[in-house]
Amino acid sequence: MRARVSWTLVLAAFLALPPFQRERVEEMGFGQIFRIERMRVDPALTQALRSRWDTEASAFAFPWGHMIPSLENVSRIIGLRVHGRAVSGYTYPCYHDLAERLLDLPVERRSSLVPREALQESLSLFEAGKNAGESEDEYLERLDRVSRRELASEPGPQADLDLRRFLVLFLGRLLFATRGDAVHCRFLPLLADLGEVGGYAWGAAFLEHQFDGLSASERQTSTSGFYPFLQVWSYLHLPALRRGDLTRPGLVPIARRWDSRRDTRHLDDQLERLQEAIDSYPYLDVVWQPYLGEGDEGRPWLVQARPYFGRSVWLHALNLLLPLNLFLTQRSLGLRQSVVEFPVRDRFRRPGRSFRGLHDTTDWRERAREQIENWERKGKGVRSDATTDDAYLQAYALKYGGKVYKSARHQVDVAGEIASLRALLQSAVQDREAAQRQTTELRSELERMRGAGAGGASSSRSAGGSPSLMEARLAGDVLRAEEAQRHLEERERDLELAHEQAMTLQSERDQLRVRAEAAESQVAEMTRELATLRVQRPSGDQEEVIRLRAELLAQQTLAQSLQQIVTDIDRSRSRSRSGVSVSRATGASVGQYLAGSSSRRRNEEEERHRPGDDGRGGGEMLPPPDRREGSGESGGGQ
Ligand SMILES: *[C@@H]1O[C@H](CO)[C@@H](O)[C@H](O)[C@H]1NC(C)=O
Repeated sequence: MRARVSWTLVLAAFLALPPFQRERVEEMGFGQIFRIERMRVDPALTQALRSRWDTEASAFAFPWGHMIPSLENVSRIIGLRVHGRAVSGYTYPCYHDLAERLLDLPVERRSSLVPREALQESLSLFEAGKNAGESEDEYLERLDRVSRRELASEPGPQADLDLRRFLVLFLGRLLFATRGDAVHCRFLPLLADLGEVGGYAWGAAFLEHQFDGLSASERQTSTSGFYPFLQVWSYLHLPALRRGDLTRPGLVPIARRWDSRRDTRHLDDQLERLQEAIDSYPYLDVVWQPYLGEGDEGRPWLVQARPYFGRSVWLHALNLLLPLNLFLTQRSLGLRQSVVEFPVRDRFRRPGRSFRGLHDTTDWRERAREQIENWERKGKGVRSDATTDDAYLQAYALKYGGKVYKSARHQVDVAGEIASLRALLQSAVQDREAAQRQTTELRSELERMRGAGAGGASSSRSAGGSPSLMEARLAGDVLRAEEAQRHLEERERDLELAHEQAMTLQSERDQLRVRAEAAESQVAEMTRELATLRVQRPSGDQEEVIRLRAELLAQQTLAQSLQQIVTDIDRSRSRSRSGVSVSRATGASVGQYLAGSSSRRRNEEEERHRPGDDGRGGGEMLPPPDRREGSGESGGGQ
């Protein structure tokens, strides 16, 4: 069933509930989802994003570094609650009895799947399939009309049954949708006491489900889960991809503001263009903090959610446990990215995507106790003392190399040298701009002081020290700032040059390789021709054979020399790479000058907001829990 159709269906089920029931859904914190305009699915965008997901790090690995959708993003974009208890508890090999008791619906033995038809009809949605040629709105209207059986209009056991059925549809078909037609009910144990449902951090579980969906195979185009989240996330953070239209500015949650832009090209074509656009995305146009400074108006849920922002923490959705490695994206917190330890592969088998046939009854609060405690402590704050992203970017280039590129055009950068030079260049531009701002600030401060001094400087004397002494100190600061700026400008030029050279060499090398390959195939063809000539005219045409032989020799020499040039270029490039890092050395000392600058101030501010935190960079997370036994999946339900 298509994702958007599911959405319409769940929306129709929500609208069919009597007002007091809808009120309960609101109180649980799910109401915002139903205010979001139904949005077009963008499979090309989803696939492009998925191809960038590094499962090991639980992060996107873009050419400009890691990026991770965060709890703050869930909270702001779709308005789901990210605070409260971890979505954890028991999983069972069979939900038959539970479903009978809590839903009064059939579930097969050893299964967690409710038949969709039965679930829909229990919510008075009959003939709920979407007809061909019917628009989404027509479909919604028709569903609205076909509600035949009245749902309970008074609070009571029947109303609770109705609400639980609705929640199973909502969670299983929308928020935590899996592929296939049946609806899983693995969250059912958490729905037993309806008064408790709103106390769980469903938004955190949702984020984890998104991570899990991103880890699915690259070629899979179908979207599982509530797709507007990632789509809008990319409209906000990577606006230059231009996949969304801001049609309703100002609405909250943010997803209500956007429409998915229509693209009628063939999917493969769209995908190739998107990959190319991401590969050559201008790093300075990456928006790390969209809507910075936007208030909390109309979003009361943000107040309780805020303590969870800006922290690395384990996420929970029953048997699915994944880390939110926010320390990899310090830039999204307005900091510079420091070098951190990149996560290494989880030694344990990840729980499968199918939730059918969990062998044992498992209490995940017990099994993953440390990770649960980690959630309850709200993980660990992310901080950074770095003054430039350089060291991180170099480590990043070393780890990922040319793998950060996905389009055919950029993949030739096998060693990732161009990627790394580009990253360094962008970072240098950033440093230079920061230095420039600082110089300008200091200069105008000096001018102010000089002006005040001319007008009888009694006011500045109260700030301590004689005015001339302070003026001299400030003048010294200005000189140093100017010096730093000059250094940075020089470094930027160096890097620009190195980058240009690398690009030129790259394209020359590519052209040469093409020519070398052409020469080689010609050699092969002439060899064949020569052989045929020998067979056909054993005694024969000596002249022709000699001519061909000579030509063959010439082509062979050409091919060899071309190959040699290609090899030489490669060699000289690996030499020049060390050259670049030598010129980088100046960068470090310049960075020290800037140490007193904005990022430290930001850190200090963070500090004030979050007392009692000792996280440095927050690079370390708990190891994953032992999931070797008991989490094995049988029955490969897709
Ligand atoms: C996404 O999260 C990051 C950090 O958690 C934050 O800086 C950024 O502003 C968020 N963007 C949105 C749209 O919420």
